Amino acid sequence: MFTVVVELGDRSYPIHIGSGLLASDTLLRQTLQGRRVMVVSNDRVAPLYLDAVLGALDPERTATCILPDGEQHKTLASVERIVTDLLQRRFGRDCVLLALGGGVVGDLTGFAAAVYQRGVDFVQVPTTLLAQVDSAVGGKTAVNHALGKNMIGAFHQPIAVLSDFDTFATLPAREYRAGLAEVVKYGLISDAAFFAWLQTHSRELQQRDPAALAHAIRRSCEIKAEVVAGDEQEQGRRAILNLGHTFGHALETGLGYGTLLHGEAVAIGLRFALDLSAQLGLADAAEVTATIELLRTLGLPTSRPRPLPADRIIELMGVDKKVRDGRLRFVVVNHIGSAEVRADIAQSMLLKILDRGVEPEDVAQS
Ligand SMILES: NC(=O)c1ccc[n+]([C@@H]2O[C@H](COP(=O)([O-])OP(=O)(O)OC[C@H]3O[C@@H](n4cnc5c(N)ncnc54)[C@H](O)[C@@H]3O)[C@@H](O)[C@H]2O)c1
Ligand SMILES: [Zn+2]
Repeated sequence: MFTVVVELGDRSYPIHIGSGLLASDTLLRQTLQGRRVMVVSNDRVAPLYLDAVLGALDPERTATCILPDGEQHKTLASVERIVTDLLQRRFGRDCVLLALGGGVVGDLTGFAAAVYQRGVDFVQVPTTLLAQVDSAVGGKTAVNHALGKNMIGAFHQPIAVLSDFDTFATLPAREYRAGLAEVVKYGLISDAAFFAWLQTHSRELQQRDPAALAHAIRRSCEIKAEVVAGDEQEQGRRAILNLGHTFGHALETGLGYGTLLHGEAVAIGLRFALDLSAQLGLADAAEVTATIELLRTLGLPTSRPRPLPADRIIELMGVDKKVRDGRLRFVVVNHIGSAEVRADIAQSMLLKILDRGVEPEDVAQS
């Protein structure tokens, strides 16, 4: 096991990464220290891992809230259910919520923890690759609104993250691959050497090789922890973590939550972010090609699904949170390993880029 610390003064917290973390109850016990715990999970993950978690906790001081699975349940209604369960069981401000699941459970539980009695502690136990490298780290919590993804949320840091690779044993291939999109994102925004490492280790990553996974998860968490520590509330640099996400969120919303996985939408978004960067004279053609090739090698889609016309995507991007003063803001790559936010992108340029890269160009998608 190794530990990456998110340095946020007295709200600093550890991300423990390794194998066997749930099987041995020591870490969970140490983290929760006999406090009252509400374990929040969903009806897909709970049958797989809830017993392992409950085994480490005092049954007298523990309750569970099992929600239906799926992005379509990342709503205020689910938060209300968690809050109702907490109130019915008379959980006070000293309780801890424990999120057991992927990014959906983590975002929902984190938001419930942020608002329950104006804020209680929570622990993330992420069980998807995407959640381990991204959503469980950094304290962004949110639920969706019918008019936009993650439109209701709060910054609320967990007190600890326990990332156990053993949970990938049951993770479907498509979900696993989707998480790799966020890993590629970290190389693009901040570490050219890591991007090159991903290119040479794509086969091991596809095969879920534990040593390769350990490196990929650790490096991703280190990069995210460093960016978050420098700009917790996204006043500036943290926005680079949204590379590919303006396009990606528009695709997710436009196609209906759950059609494309978040990571798949991000993969397509990364391709468009690179196209945009090249159009601005930043990234060069070889970098665009290298990014598309890496994403495809990892089994990710890189072209826009046909049902969404370019002007609809632009309209959807208009409700993205990165809009400031009426101008769309985009994260672009200066070169692989360095990113920045630009607010000077003309709509005509976006239309030009969106006209390219439409399915069925993408042969790798299946
Ligand atoms: N807060 C953030 O900073 C942040 C960052 C990135 C993404 N997100 C959010 O994360 C969500 C996506 O997360 P996700 O990709 O983990 O999706 P998810 O939570 O929907 O999990 C994917 C599917 O896998 C199932 N699952 C989870 N773990 C499993 C396991 N070990 N074995 C078998 N099945 C398992 C889930 O129940 C679900 O059906 C989106 O809502 C996105 O907006 C948040
Ligand atoms: Zn993401």
